Amino acid sequence: MTTSMASSAELDAAPPAPAPAAPGAEAALPAAAPEPGPRVPEECGVLTRGFNLWYGDFQALVDVSACIKPRRITALIGPSGCGKTTLLRSFNRMNERFTGVRTSGEISILGKNILDPDVSLIELRKAVGMVFQRPNPLPLSIYENMVFGLRIHGGAGRASRAGERETVEKALREVFLWDAVKDRLGARATELQLEQQQKLCIARLLPLKPEILLMDEPCSALDAEATEAVEELLDGLRSRYTIVIVTHNMAQARRVSDDCLFMLSGRLVEQSPTAELFVNPRDKRTEEYIQGRYG
Ligand SMILES: Nc1ncnc2c1ncn2[C@@H]1O[C@H](COP(=O)(O)OP(=O)(O)OP(=O)(O)O)[C@@H](O)[C@H]1O
Ligand SMILES: [Mg+2]
Repeated sequence: MTTSMASSAELDAAPPAPAPAAPGAEAALPAAAPEPGPRVPEECGVLTRGFNLWYGDFQALVDVSACIKPRRITALIGPSGCGKTTLLRSFNRMNERFTGVRTSGEISILGKNILDPDVSLIELRKAVGMVFQRPNPLPLSIYENMVFGLRIHGGAGRASRAGERETVEKALREVFLWDAVKDRLGARATELQLEQQQKLCIARLLPLKPEILLMDEPCSALDAEATEAVEELLDGLRSRYTIVIVTHNMAQARRVSDDCLFMLSGRLVEQSPTAELFVNPRDKRTEEYIQGRYG
């Protein structure tokens, strides 16, 4: 865990590599499936129980209890400042990069409370990858972006060049980017179109075999056509990963998500299947929000 102060822009520009873990004994998360694919379903991909978070004296999350279902897309919605990004960043403990952050309660992933002091942040951030509002590829080639995480983590990823290339191809195919870049893997990633950069930022997480993909308004910098392309790829990833996407776009939440969490002032107001939440919201505040009465 790092304790240095970082602005949100710095965080967004952070490379995919996880922050160094605190020294000392650490527990790995239970091993992820060797290949993405159907597994024995667990009831919750992410389970929070009575989770609170403070930035200094300010409590940004209050008693959040939620069950994010595995291998589905969950949209996190709510007005600006309600705590969506904070909750998302809690799922891989990214908030700890800010000074003065305190938490209480529980967040369980793969049956392990990730707030336990013995959790390896490196393993956690391999299992729980994150994509930001603005695509942030490293100023390296497309290929180097794809293998950066693998090479840092070593282990099984430190396979032969041929194996590495195969892994890269598989991940780029998963995000529908392979055909567009296969002949120019050595080109700088920052020269790709914005949509392709965002696809690359998703693809580079996949060789680490994540269980969970966190996406904080991943289409907010994209035009309508690019947004459609990213939504299409999310649909393709749906059955293989547990995806949590923050969006301000209610039409997008309806199009892409299976379940929705509606937050207000740091609290979880409602968690429902998307079709239900938009047609028959249980809470009056949810109804007002989806009708565009505030936020
Ligand atoms: N690093 C930080 N230090 C102090 N306060 C913070 C920090 N990050 C967020 N906050 C505060 O916590 C609250 C929740 O912020 P957060 O960014 O999680 O909201 P959000 O729902 O993602 O908003 P938006 O829709 O505008 O992105 C806000 O009041 C915000 O000002
Ligand atoms: Mg946010």
